[in-house]
Order: sequence, then structure tokens, then C-alpha cells
Amino acid sequence: MDSALAPVADEAAVSATVPVVLPDSSSLVANSGAAPSLSVSGAAPLAQQTTYSFTLQSVNPTAISLSVIVASQSSFPTRPLDSTATAGAHPSFISGAPNLPDASLLKPSDYPPMDVPPPTDSTIVQQWKHDVANSGITIPDLQPTLPGGCAANPTIANDVSRCWWTCTGCTRDADITDCPNPMQWGLTYDDGPGYYTSDLLHYLDEKNLKSTFFVVGSRAIQFPRILQTQYMGQHQIAVHTWSHTPLTTQTNDQIIAELGWAKKIIKDALGVTPNMMRPPFGDIDDRVRAISIAMGLVPVIWTRTSPVSTFDTDDFNIHNGVTPVSKVLQNWQNILSSASTLKTGFIVLEHDLFQESVEVATGYILPDALAHNPPFNIQPVVKCLGRSMSDAYVETNNNKTNPPAANGGGGNAQNTDGSDRSNAEKQYALVLTHPGTITAAFVGLSGFAVGLFAILRF
Ligand SMILES: *[C@@H]1O[C@H](CO)[C@@H](O)[C@H](O)[C@H]1NC(C)=O
Repeated sequence: MDSALAPVADEAAVSATVPVVLPDSSSLVANSGAAPSLSVSGAAPLAQQTTYSFTLQSVNPTAISLSVIVASQSSFPTRPLDSTATAGAHPSFISGAPNLPDASLLKPSDYPPMDVPPPTDSTIVQQWKHDVANSGITIPDLQPTLPGGCAANPTIANDVSRCWWTCTGCTRDADITDCPNPMQWGLTYDDGPGYYTSDLLHYLDEKNLKSTFFVVGSRAIQFPRILQTQYMGQHQIAVHTWSHTPLTTQTNDQIIAELGWAKKIIKDALGVTPNMMRPPFGDIDDRVRAISIAMGLVPVIWTRTSPVSTFDTDDFNIHNGVTPVSKVLQNWQNILSSASTLKTGFIVLEHDLFQESVEVATGYILPDALAHNPPFNIQPVVKCLGRSMSDAYVETNNNKTNPPAANGGGGNAQNTDGSDRSNAEKQYALVLTHPGTITAAFVGLSGFAVGLFAILRF
């Protein structure tokens, strides 16, 4: 291990409170464009400083050294799954769930091409369009946004009535952005399953942690057995579109195709259909929300406390060379400080697609979180909301206690005091058609999200 990093991983440092300052890992990347860390002086403007500070309470003794977690990292061999789900296995932890389908019957040729928006003229997409039209949910007549996020759409970005989360932080009652009770962490990983998901599953199993996985349909058809293993491991599976497209840029039909195909491959692989979704990049407005709800999918975003403070580790940007791992760990520390001041629990954005993100999760973020005092209650989102895993899927959901989204249910099932909020949620369709109620203050166009869409994954 790099001697400069030794104090971080040293067991003796577990109780140390002195921040550990690391050189910016990106200075080791030939192509990063970042100033070499050695040239930074006290005179450098804050934004150009290339050192980040953080304190970790605990580090995994087998963590990959931080100096190695860089964009140019060579691929490590992937870990075989500790256990593989078998066709016909019974998910006994979900009352009423069917036995596991046979993954060998899944053929990529039965699905749209991977990693591009699916065609909208197929028979099945026509059926989903029909279902949405008959759902009773009014889809607001809003123009798609231009690619490029808030900066490329200044007028729309400032239109509070559209409730575009990315640009204003606006949420509606049905959106899930946190867990109800303090110290609850709704653990989530996006964009998989991927080659390194097995490493994350191994660590989660070792620590008996369960997560919510927001699954990209294209990855699910590529790795259906990993998806089945996640599901049988009692993790929550939820929708993250077919091709990871920013949904506000898409037409209604395209959004229906993105969500519909992701629902379908998950149902085909697991036998059950998720009832939660996360919009890629958090890119959701009232049009995307309404279509999601009409398709039985409750939106789950991540916690945001101010325009410049969302609970986003930025871990996927290590792989792109945009964000050094030390910055990700500083982001994590900022999230921790913020989380301990909240009256609710929280949801953090992390990813399991790239090895760098998995390495920082299993080596640093999760060990640090597990050492936190007072302890966090780490759970899948559906569980932190006080529901059972059965309530994560359409077919097994208890429709009485957890009314489906399109019937006016969904969203946070309980207030922080445990009281039932279902009456508020029954009015959700009305809220959508009368978009006067904005639960988050309009904070104006800020730079924090600019550039999000500039980063193309896959
Ligand atoms: C809840 O309703 C859905 C239809 O929306 C149905 O498929 C499902 O079986 C119902 N849940 C239970 C536990 O009956």
C-alpha cells in the first residue's frame, strides 16, 4: 500500500480525528487535465485545489489502495458469484411470489438492442401506451427538454410549475427522497448488474446488509443470473430504464418504452414486476413523474438538502476520470455530516456498474458507515419505508396497506411519526393536474447539475 495512504487503512487510525489529506488521485491520470497536486499552493483558488480531506472511522482491511482507484485502473478479475440462483427456486421471503424463472430461456433477441432507446412502434409498446392512456393519470402536456440539462433549457429550468427536480430540487408528494426516521439509510446502487456487482454482493452478504438495486434493462438481459442472485439474496430490485437515457429529453412514447422494457426484462427474469423506479441522472419532471406513476412505478430520487448539497457521492465519475476517489470520500464525509442533522433518514446515490465505484463502496464507504456511532439502520428503500419486501413488487404488493401508485398510492407510506399518509397520496393525481403545490422551495438555476448530462456512460 502507498505509504502516503497507510494512515487511512491503519487500524490504529480508526479512532484518529485528524483529517487525512490525500493527493488528488486524478493527478496520477495522464489525461485528467487536473493540475498536478504538487504544484498546488495556499494561493490556489478553492475550486482549483486538488487535495480533499476526509476522516474515516474504519476501512476494510482488504480495501484496494486509494492510489489504485483511478480511471486508468486496469480491470481486476471479476469474482464469481458466491451463490447462483437456480431456476425454480422459491423466494420464500416474499409471500405469494412465483418460483424463479429459468434464466437460460431469456434471449437478447426478444428484447430491444442494448443501450439505445427502444423503438416505440412495436406491438408491445403500443399496448403499454394504451395502458397509460387508460390508467386514469393525466399526463401533463409538456415539451421534452433539450439534451444538456438545466443549462441547455434556461426557460424550462426556471419554470417551477414543471417541477423539474434536477434544476429546482422540486419534489411531489409521491416522490421518495428519504427514509422517514433519523439514522435510517435507504441503501441504493444504480446502473447494474455489472461485472463487479458480485464483489459488492459478497461484501453485503458478509455484513448482512440489504440494498435496493436500480437496474438498467440492458444490463439485466446481459447479466440475468446476477439479477436473480440479487433478488434471491433479498435485495430490492427496482427500475432504472432500458438504456439509461435522461427521461425529460424523451417523448411520452419513448419514456413508456424505456420504463416498459425495463419492467418486462425484470419480470421475465424474476417473475415479479418492480413498483419503484429511479430516473437516470435524477432527471424527472411532472411529465416523467406522471408516466412513471401511470406505469405503476413510484419515483425514488436521493436526498437533497440544498442546491449544492445532494446526497450524491459522484462515485461513477471516478471511472470517467472526472472525479478523484478522494473527492468521492470527501463527498461521503459531507453526506455524513449533513445526515446527522436531518430530522429524517436519507438516501444516497451510489453505483455498482464500474469497479472503481464498487471498490470505494466495499473498501471505504460501507466500512466507515458500519463503524458510525450512533449506528445507521441500513436497509433497502422499501424496508426503510416500513414495508415488507413483498410490497416492492406489483404481483405481491399488499394493495390494502400499500395502494399501488396508479390508484393514488405510492410515495412515502408513513410520516416520520408513523402516521398513515395514504390519504395525501390518494390525491396525487390531482396534484399532478394542478401543479401549484411544490413541496420544495424554488431555488433557481444553479450550477450544481450542469454537466451531469455531458457525461455519457456506455
Ligand atoms: C395487487 O394488485 C395487483 C394488480 O394491480 C395484483 O396483480 C396483485 O396480485 C395484488 N396483490 C395481491 C397481494 O393480491
